[in-house]
Amino acid sequence: MSILKVCRLGHPVLRMQSKRVPREALASPAIQNLIDDMMETMVEYYGVGLAAPQVHHSLSIAVIECHGPRGEIPMTVLVNPEMTILDESLLEDWEGCLSIPDFRGRVPRYARLRVDALDRHGNKVEFTAEDFFARVIQHEFDHLMGKVYLDRMRDLGTLAHMAEFERYWLPREKKAGSSE
Ligand code: NI
Repeated sequence: MSILKVCRLGHPVLRMQSKRVPREALASPAIQNLIDDMMETMVEYYGVGLAAPQVHHSLSIAVIECHGPRGEIPMTVLVNPEMTILDESLLEDWEGCLSIPDFRGRVPRYARLRVDALDRHGNKVEFTAEDFFARVIQHEFDHLMGKVYLDRMRDLGTLAHMAEFERYWLPREKKAGSSE
């Protein structure tokens, strides 16, 4: 397993729509190694999610894991995910992104959704997610569509560098931002 280089905003791959992974391609060592490396890279950089375009692969694959105050999400691999919004109410909360390092901003996200995807072995998975899990999924899904969280902010008035976020916003919010 290897820790991969994470590309930052401005790299064209972050703005491309990623390609679906054919089910039969999932068994290949290249794809299985990529998934393992994405997991290791996400953990190394304290992310709660990572999408393949962030490591220079324009493929519809995302990994998610969180153990912290914002939620408990076991390691989840989503291949070719599709989302159905189940609750159109929007919740606003802080997000960060490993491809936009050292920033935080408030982003509105749908409260509840259904996900249809393949797991890393090509099995169909279907589940509902809400609150923080739903937020992370929407953030990663956006990466697969060539979007980043800045595109979803209502305005850039809350965009904050990490030090200023911790100084001026965190005491008010009393919750940690995390990077997806
Ligand atoms: Ni991100």
